[in-house]
Amino acid sequence: MADYERFLSPTGRHLHESAIRRMGTVSARAPDMVSFAAGYPDPLSFPWDELRELAAGLLSGRDPSVLQYGPTRGYEPLIESIVGALAARHITATAEQVTITSGSQQGIDLVGRVLVTPGDVVLVELPAYTGAISAFRNAQARLAGVRQDGDGIDLEDLDAVCLRERQAGRRVRLLYLVPNFQNPTGVLLSGTRRGQLLAWAERRDVLIVEDDPYGALYFEDMASEAGTRPLRADDAAGRVLYLSTFSKTLAPGFRVGWMVAPASLIERFETAKQSVDLMTGSFDQRIVHEAVTRGVLERLAPHLRQVYRARRDAMEEALHGQLADRIRWTRPKGGFFLWAELADGYSDESLLARALEQRVVFVVGSAFYVDGTGHQWIRLSFSAPTPERIREGVRRLGAAMAIPCVPV
Ligand SMILES: Cc1ncc(COP(=O)(O)O)c(C=O)c1O
Repeated sequence: MADYERFLSPTGRHLHESAIRRMGTVSARAPDMVSFAAGYPDPLSFPWDELRELAAGLLSGRDPSVLQYGPTRGYEPLIESIVGALAARHITATAEQVTITSGSQQGIDLVGRVLVTPGDVVLVELPAYTGAISAFRNAQARLAGVRQDGDGIDLEDLDAVCLRERQAGRRVRLLYLVPNFQNPTGVLLSGTRRGQLLAWAERRDVLIVEDDPYGALYFEDMASEAGTRPLRADDAAGRVLYLSTFSKTLAPGFRVGWMVAPASLIERFETAKQSVDLMTGSFDQRIVHEAVTRGVLERLAPHLRQVYRARRDAMEEALHGQLADRIRWTRPKGGFFLWAELADGYSDESLLARALEQRVVFVVGSAFYVDGTGHQWIRLSFSAPTPERIREGVRRLGAAMAIPCVPV
């Protein structure tokens, strides 16, 4: 057998794998595993009947473009619908400022390809979404972590890290963050900090990549909706590149997301996308477009908020009942994740090994830290398992935590 390692490029050799994908594979393989690992949406909430009907209509054969190649930037009527939906989120954008992407993950990857010079610093939260860590590392960025607290990213630390990196002679051009119900912490960036962040980006000449997959999935009253107002809505100086997706509010199998950016940058992203996939799938975009225009998405949103709130409650109740003396967490006000701090005597990786023996899986906290720390944290996703499975998973986690487990 040939040694294919010899054929790898430096990029190919150093590609970064997502820790979450790896955990997803573990849970898919083991029968009866309870997975708190991947942030998968609830499959029972996919609007199966409506999607079946939409798909049948599109596949009637009357419109050949449904299965044909199309523009790289996306199906124009879908872009127009997105422009309309953005206006409802207080974002003013023209069609020239929007591109469809193969999930918002591709948007992050395109930012890495087009805006990162190898060796540049990208600022990220401590902890940060692993898919972004992988994409920016693959673009050969150097990642610098910024502390966050219960109100989101810490602006003093942000400025200190930015200046420290610049004083060391490195270029700092980008900040990536998830202001709404962050992955993995579930934290919502406060309104005050949103305004301060925009002023900071202007002062320090930095672009902000705002990744917003969870903004519609808030669990509290309508005041929370105001609390999820995108940074891009108040971005008078044009500092924000905004990413979002239909993955969490419709279905991730479609791989349809979008990016909002100045038109001159959208052109660059489009050219980069051409060599990656030519275009996001036509059929996927057409189904999503029908789902948007026929109000499927709008009808679904309140149901999803209710389902995920009930799952969050089920997880919190089970944790309070079984593990309150061994873990600590702050109640997530939306999204898919509960971020838990382990008591002294436990560490994320040894606990995972024990948890797998008990047939329950989560993502280790350290996977989200770019500075090698985070071993006293774990991320528990409550989005996919039913409340009954959540209770069973927490019971198993309790068994795994029956005795402390420090690193070996
Ligand atoms: C913060 C964040 N960004 C991006 C993504 C990727 O989403 P998509 O399915 O649209 O590629 C995820 C998925 O979990 C996420 O949590």
